Amino acid sequence: MKILGIESSCDETAIAVVEDGRHVIVSLVASQTDIHAQFGGVVPEIAARQHLETIDALSDAALRKASLTMEDIDALAVTRGPGLVGSLVVGIAYAKGLALGSGKPLIPVDHVKAHVHGAVLGLSEGKPEFPCLAIVVSGGHTNIFAMKDFTSYELLAYSIDDACGECFDKVAKLLGLPYPGGPQIEKKALAGDPKAIPMPTIMAKKSDLRFSYSGLKTFIVNFLRKERANGDLSETMAANLCAAFQDEALMQIVRKLKSALVVKPKTQSIVVCGGVSANQRFRTLMRENIGLPTYFPALAYCSDNAAMIAAYGHHLFKAEKNGTIFKTDDWDAYSRFQFS
Ligand code: KG4
Ligand code: ZN
Repeated sequence: MKILGIESSCDETAIAVVEDGRHVIVSLVASQTDIHAQFGGVVPEIAARQHLETIDALSDAALRKASLTMEDIDALAVTRGPGLVGSLVVGIAYAKGLALGSGKPLIPVDHVKAHVHGAVLGLSEGKPEFPCLAIVVSGGHTNIFAMKDFTSYELLAYSIDDACGECFDKVAKLLGLPYPGGPQIEKKALAGDPKAIPMPTIMAKKSDLRFSYSGLKTFIVNFLRKERANGDLSETMAANLCAAFQDEALMQIVRKLKSALVVKPKTQSIVVCGGVSANQRFRTLMRENIGLPTYFPALAYCSDNAAMIAAYGHHLFKAEKNGTIFKTDDWDAYSRFQFS
């Protein structure tokens, strides 16, 4: 079964076709990072306009690249949220038009849950082993889900304030590094010593599964204020700070995951996904500390993409739960962007 996925929740316009929920036939991503970098973060109005300019040509290009037509597609899947409203409107309106025009069903997909499927792409049958714990670590979310199968998500942990990726971005900004900050911090940390600057242990209580990142950010703000009072930050100090911050930010996830494993002792495997899962230090810390099979997405599917949307859409389509599938005669193309 071939699903065409459409993603436009933030600053990436993406189209993909995925077969049977794990084989990517084509996946195209038009990133707007360069446009937003000059503003130090995503400007929602600009993002929406960019999606509008890009989406139709990208969809045509994806089908052409895969030598497919809409006739070959079984259903469409589109990100329904969460995300920037203006950006979501563009993708959803486009998906509705394409579904209506081609007579194919449309599957609304939750972006955060879809990230998990980014790590499933390319895995062989039977993997990941269920029940599993899935950790979504992105710019907007830090969630641990307990999953019994591809469509059952039990939210075990979430952040009470900033998301992990958001914290990387904010700390990078404090250090004068460009947006998006996560990869910049990782690069700078390579030259640093993670033990050189003691970091506070945030949310140390083992029984509390929730995440928090604003305290760590405030610690860095205060640390930099003190250091800069004595002059500019040295390169060594900046590298050490990146390495120490990165380790503490990532170890919080490792600690909470260990606590989640106590709550869910039958867990067979771990899935790590979302933009921060591209971080190599994170992968090392996970492998060193968690003794279960652990799956990460290929680098292309860590950050936002439409293959993960199509893959999750495939499983929702098969399960056809809760009336979430929209046949073309269920709705009209002019209804509000929400599906419910
Ligand atoms: O999943 P994603 O592409 O978009 C959201 O749905 O939020 O995640 C983007 C986030 C950004 O905060 C970015 O700085 C972070 O992922 N990120 C990283 C790395 N690559 C991306 N954080 C740490 N290390 C990285 N290598
Ligand atoms: Zn995302």
